[in-house]
Amino acid sequence: DATVAVVVVAAGSGARLGAPVPKAFVECAGETILARSLRAIWLLPEPVQVIVVAPAAQLELAGRIARESSAAASAYLSVVAGGQSRQDSVAAGLAELAPGVEVVLVHDAARALTPTEQFERVIAFVRERGHGAVPGLPVSDTVKRVDGQSTVVETVDRGQLRAVQTPQGFPRDHLTTAYARAVMEATDDAGLVTDAGLPVTIVDGDPLAFKITTPWDLRRAEELLAHDSR
Ligand code: C5P
Repeated sequence: DATVAVVVVAAGSGARLGAPVPKAFVECAGETILARSLRAIWLLPEPVQVIVVAPAAQLELAGRIARESSAAASAYLSVVAGGQSRQDSVAAGLAELAPGVEVVLVHDAARALTPTEQFERVIAFVRERGHGAVPGLPVSDTVKRVDGQSTVVETVDRGQLRAVQTPQGFPRDHLTTAYARAVMEATDDAGLVTDAGLPVTIVDGDPLAFKITTPWDLRRAEELLAHDSR
């Protein structure tokens, strides 16, 4: 039985992408963003519980895409409705965790080109170290802190910064504890876990795990896929 679960959050509207359908159902090089994300997960070398969190109005479509994404899907798949915020959507997914699950990953469906190896790195780290792991990349731009008038206040030391991606992985109890005591909205899951006083370590990210947010990102994803058989 699966000891790892992946909550795939796909309930966002994708307003910044400007497509007529929610982002997870937008096609990227002939395949929906959701299907592409799921395919990388089913390639993991062990059984995993996959919980797809979809827009309430499109549960059936999400279920069909998810089932078609893998022959193994039906045994390990649940599809549930998301909420107003990403955090609400993750919480809805966590309610579906199977009893034997010990490691929980939360993944943005919008990071459709995330390689399977990134999931493997996160799972291995959580198992070895017993705490949270988040893939991240160094920040290459110079970063400024500004005031309300966009006047520069200071340059932030980018050597201390990481731009983080998903999947973010945690021991099950760390993540459920963090969600149970969450009072504020955090922009990622690790934010809630560190707020709960639990450690989280950054592991290597991958440029391919970028989030498809704008039409430009979608074009970049399609360009990358055109030069790759993935
Ligand atoms: O909007 P953004 O791209 O930052 O969302 C990140 C991920 O969270 C996406 O995969 C999106 O579908 C998901 N999400 C969600 N429920 C929401 C908002 C976002 O599942 N209410």
